[in-house]
Amino acid sequence: MKAGVPKSRAEVKDLEQLRQLFLDAPERSGVSDYWSDNSLLELYDSTFARRILWKWEAVVRELALKNWVPPPNASRWVDWGCGSGVASEAFLLGFETSEPQEIILSDRSLHARQFSEKKVRHLRPQARIVPLSPEQLQIQETDLVLISHVLTELNDDQFQTLSENIESAAAIVWIEPGTPFCSRRLISLRQRLLSKFEVIAPCPHQGNCGLQEEGRDWCHFFAPAPSEVFQSSEWMNFSKEMKIDLRSLPVSFLVLQRKSALEPSIAPKLVKRALGRPRFYKGHAKLLICSKEGVNEASLQERNHKSSFKSWQRDSFVVEITNAQDCD
Ligand SMILES: C[S@@+](CC[C@H](N)C(=O)[O-])C[C@H]1O[C@@H](n2cnc3c(N)ncnc32)[C@H](O)[C@@H]1O
Repeated sequence: MKAGVPKSRAEVKDLEQLRQLFLDAPERSGVSDYWSDNSLLELYDSTFARRILWKWEAVVRELALKNWVPPPNASRWVDWGCGSGVASEAFLLGFETSEPQEIILSDRSLHARQFSEKKVRHLRPQARIVPLSPEQLQIQETDLVLISHVLTELNDDQFQTLSENIESAAAIVWIEPGTPFCSRRLISLRQRLLSKFEVIAPCPHQGNCGLQEEGRDWCHFFAPAPSEVFQSSEWMNFSKEMKIDLRSLPVSFLVLQRKSALEPSIAPKLVKRALGRPRFYKGHAKLLICSKEGVNEASLQERNHKSSFKSWQRDSFVVEITNAQDCD
């Protein structure tokens, strides 16, 4: 896991421009392809995309904890807005025994399709790999759809069209930055698909989302960065050059599986889950707890919730609240 540390001022500038472009995207939605060449994709893949991979790894670990695997009827995996192919990479590495017959790499950018095709071919030489433009792609009921970090680049119409198109999929794994904007869009997708799909993660229940009404809270978690990163001079340089806090990987995500494609083996189910990060005080912490009753702020006594407090100190991705009746 090597950081492609920007080696020149020009590369730093390229990354800064890319980041600005991602940040500005909602106002400039509909912008055309920004992947000017292969070297920009390479730079992205070894820097920003590694950080995105760590988020995918956290989600894959959570899915493994739940005994979830890609549904056997999902013979085709579709990486929508694939960029450098990090979503496929995470799934192929995380579910090594899954053998999709076909992997579709779809992006409006030809450079991105070509770059990710090379990467994925290397990871699964035996699979049929098909790069497709969005116009050539039709989602089928045998598709596992992987989507990552595209929401801020879609205007409302594009988001609605994509949401509609993926309704026929067997399963959907969608990971985005943990921002209020992305969280709200994922919540609206969840609501739209709730009657047809089982919510595999992150929700501890299958009811309406407690954060549907716009307020100050949003559904997000913090994925951990691998510990080696903090010993790596390359990542330290990257962090300094780009003014990025390596520890902070906020993520909003949604994993859905069509009800008819569901194996009954998915267990154990979470009942209550902590969102975001807690605020610590002497002997207790305040935090948001999600359950089928909704999302509520609670105050937890450290002495009653020792394991949850330990999980937070380790920056764990899934913090289950087991005895929330003790909340004040
Ligand atoms: C920030 S990159 C994320 C790439 C990759 N999914 C990842 O997580 O690293 C967003 C990608 O979405 C693609 N994209 C943006 N709008 C699109 C659209 N309307 N149709 C297809 N691809 C689109 C871009 O070309 C780019 O490759």
